[in-house]
Amino acid sequence: MTITETKWWQTAVLYQIYPRGFQDSNGDGIGDLQGIISRLDYLQTLGITGIWLSPVYKSPNDDNGYDISDYQDIMDEFGTMADMEELLVEAEKRGIKIIMDLVVNHTSDEHAWFIEAKKGKDNDYRDYYIWRDPVDSDVPNSLGSAFSGTAWAFDEASGQYYLHLFSKKQPDLNWENEKVRQEVYDMMNFWLDKGIGGFRMDVIDLIGKIPDEEITGNGPKLHEYLKEMHTTTFGQEKYDVMTVGETWGATPEIAKLYSNPARNELSMVFQFEHSGLDEVPGKSKWDLQPLKVSALKKVFAKWQNELGHEGWNSLFWNNHDLPRIVSRWGNDKEYREKSAKMLAILLHMLKGTPYIYQGEEIGMTNTPVSDVSEIDDIESINLYEERLALGYTKEEILTSINAKGRDNARTPMQWDASDNAGFTTGTPWLHVNPNYKEINVAENLADEHSVFHTYQKLIQLRKENPLVVWGDFELLDTVDEVFAYKRLYEGKEWLVVTNFSNEEHPFSYDGNYGTILIENESTPQSLTDIPLSPWQAFVVELKK
Ligand code: GLC
Ligand code: CA
Repeated sequence: MTITETKWWQTAVLYQIYPRGFQDSNGDGIGDLQGIISRLDYLQTLGITGIWLSPVYKSPNDDNGYDISDYQDIMDEFGTMADMEELLVEAEKRGIKIIMDLVVNHTSDEHAWFIEAKKGKDNDYRDYYIWRDPVDSDVPNSLGSAFSGTAWAFDEASGQYYLHLFSKKQPDLNWENEKVRQEVYDMMNFWLDKGIGGFRMDVIDLIGKIPDEEITGNGPKLHEYLKEMHTTTFGQEKYDVMTVGETWGATPEIAKLYSNPARNELSMVFQFEHSGLDEVPGKSKWDLQPLKVSALKKVFAKWQNELGHEGWNSLFWNNHDLPRIVSRWGNDKEYREKSAKMLAILLHMLKGTPYIYQGEEIGMTNTPVSDVSEIDDIESINLYEERLALGYTKEEILTSINAKGRDNARTPMQWDASDNAGFTTGTPWLHVNPNYKEINVAENLADEHSVFHTYQKLIQLRKENPLVVWGDFELLDTVDEVFAYKRLYEGKEWLVVTNFSNEEHPFSYDGNYGTILIENESTPQSLTDIPLSPWQAFVVELKK
């Protein structure tokens, strides 16, 4: 197939920054915009071409910036609008675009709109949010919050409840109100006019909700709103930006609704099927079941094959809500580096736009805690309290939190072996993983065989080989623990082979061994009946 039109985001590699934990520049223990600016050279060395910046807007930080009190201002701890503009300029100099986080399913309860709305039923802003009368002196219905308990909070003054699908301090906006939509679009245009590279859209699948029918995700008007947003904001001729929607529960069919270019909605979505494979079906993310490589293969192959030309994949292992991948699907003990490289190779050779989450490129691991007092994340804290009341033991709850809790991804970036991993000269807002003396950027840069250099090479391979961007995908039939696939493009064939286990497994392919493109240990010069060592990975171009 020949590609007629290339969008910059189809060949891009993105890097997610969670600003609070990335780099502190002024010793207050909190990462900030100047800290990010000081690390742009590092990101340029890695080779990424875009940054997804988690929220930097004004926020009381009930959910670390995902509760916004002013969309057109910067969080005090992070800096000023001038710092933000400097970041845009400095990033651009290095060929890096800045993708902003768009959190418009809800605001903070400290946003001016909500402060007004709370003043009474007649207030002009009342309908910016979702208010309902009590039913039988109780909550309007059984909608639950993603952060435990009911999604309805009672407002004494008016005797009504308001909806919050996340924390009480994150009231849901009423998207059925045209004024709300216009305010959001105006705000988006304000940022687009500053020259940002696009938006990552927080829980965007929820904006079409119908609370009275207890419909939250994929509501009937969702796509209508997105089309309207497209026309009114980023879809305008003068912009050339990317958009990626966070869509929990998306199937390939649903993903095509968002990302089929003909529909004028989004560039791509994040789907979470692979990250949910460790959950007991039908239960919550905290109820763990053993991982099965066969299931992972099925999910990846499905997404690779089914989007076709009607959509575009996003490729990610990690983000600020998910545990560290090397601790989840890899082995973060004796095979930490090797398995981190294997996971990188597997993901980055797929078709789609890859996202790297800060620290993933040096193989950072989960950070277990032994007491609830060590936790910062509101989701984990609420879960702890809820499950204690339900009779779970402290150990059971901490097992779930240590496996899946969001703080695992949020501990400060490990820059070097100095105090607090070089993240801050002050007291970090969240504990630093005690393994920072071995796992840090300085070590990785100094070692040509490090995890960092694998990521760097993978990004380079993508930049230099259209096959990586456009090639077709073909899963190979192998033993369960071996995940192998081919990419095919204009007569070229690449074979990607990975072993997802602590044991050796056999592999055999009937084809001619060609050039090795990347590997995580030296590979035998043959493909016939070779043993794959634990966590081994290599990519070879097949000879005709
Ligand atoms: C998204 C964010 C998460 C946040 C939630 C509410 O899932 O990624 O961090 O807590 O939305 O905004
Ligand atoms: Ca700071």
